[in-house]
Amino acid sequence: MSAACSICEVGPRDGLQNERAIVPARDKIRFVELLLAAGLREIEVTSFVSPKWVPQLADAEEVLLGVAGAARTHGALLSALVPNEKGLERALACGVGKVAVFTAASEGFTRRNINASIAESIARFEPVVRGAHAAGVAVRGYVSCIVRCPYDGPVSPDAVAETAERLLAVGVDELDLGETLGVATADEIAQVLERCARVRPLGEIVLHLHDTQGRARECVRRAVALGVRAFDGSAGGIGGCPYAPGAAGNIATEALDRELAALGYATSIDRGALAEAAGFIVSALAAARAGG
Ligand code: HMG
Ligand code: MG
Repeated sequence: MSAACSICEVGPRDGLQNERAIVPARDKIRFVELLLAAGLREIEVTSFVSPKWVPQLADAEEVLLGVAGAARTHGALLSALVPNEKGLERALACGVGKVAVFTAASEGFTRRNINASIAESIARFEPVVRGAHAAGVAVRGYVSCIVRCPYDGPVSPDAVAETAERLLAVGVDELDLGETLGVATADEIAQVLERCARVRPLGEIVLHLHDTQGRARECVRRAVALGVRAFDGSAGGIGGCPYAPGAAGNIATEALDRELAALGYATSIDRGALAEAAGFIVSALAAARAGG
């Protein structure tokens, strides 16, 4: 039996949302085209959030519509973050393939990130999930701050599992656990995964690691040993969350792919083409910074 792991590329969304400089839509579109050519088969392309909260992604419509044809050619799935019904409407109007709602296991982060309590956020997601499913679109549910919150400090595995259960109760199809700050040790990741395995089998959970402290690869190894088979990555390791000050980008998709290959798990990625995509976006960011 051939062993495989899947990688969802979140660079165009998580990678670009936290940059002071705004990358032009045409460069975002080119980036996604290069990622498609590199074999990425699921790409989180943008966010249909308030442009006042995240101006970097105010061009969500232009970007999603701009890459739809290339994604069809490659048979790839394009997803986007939606915080509420307004976001869902905008995303569906552009033919999104999958949407992601997002909350956290800590109240402080949820308030600052989406201006709601955890309970309010889940209530807000109910009609979003219903509307997405009515349109035949699957829903990912993110739980952020699975180890530590930038405002409330350490987060318990029980709190993570509780938020995960609430997301599943409103009908999300996929659970994605976000280590938003990139500070976790492999032991901390193991503790939270072991607790969440009681909520959802680990083979069906996605792990979303940031890499501020350079420990994300160790965390991947431990997660794979425990049965996780799906990860998020960001080409070039770009990014971070504007509401998680000091946190660095996601684990680089290149590093993730190498780590998974070393563990004996194949992915769909062409490494040379991925390096080209990463090089392109790093240069585009440098140009945007220089121009802005
Ligand atoms: P709010 O200000 O409470 O919203 O923000 P509101 O409903 O009161 O609306 C205020 C204004 O925003 C209104 O416009 C709405 O129409 C507009 P006005 O009447 O003032 O002109 N608005 C929208 N416009 C466009 N699209 C929408 C939308 N919704 C409202 N969807 C809200 C609440 C949730 C909208 C806001 O807090 C928000 O957009 N937050 C998003 C923050 C964000 O994107 N954070 C980063 C992503 S999460 C993350 O990075 C973590 C993750 O990577 C996992 C991990 O690492 O852990 C996923
Ligand atoms: Mg993130």
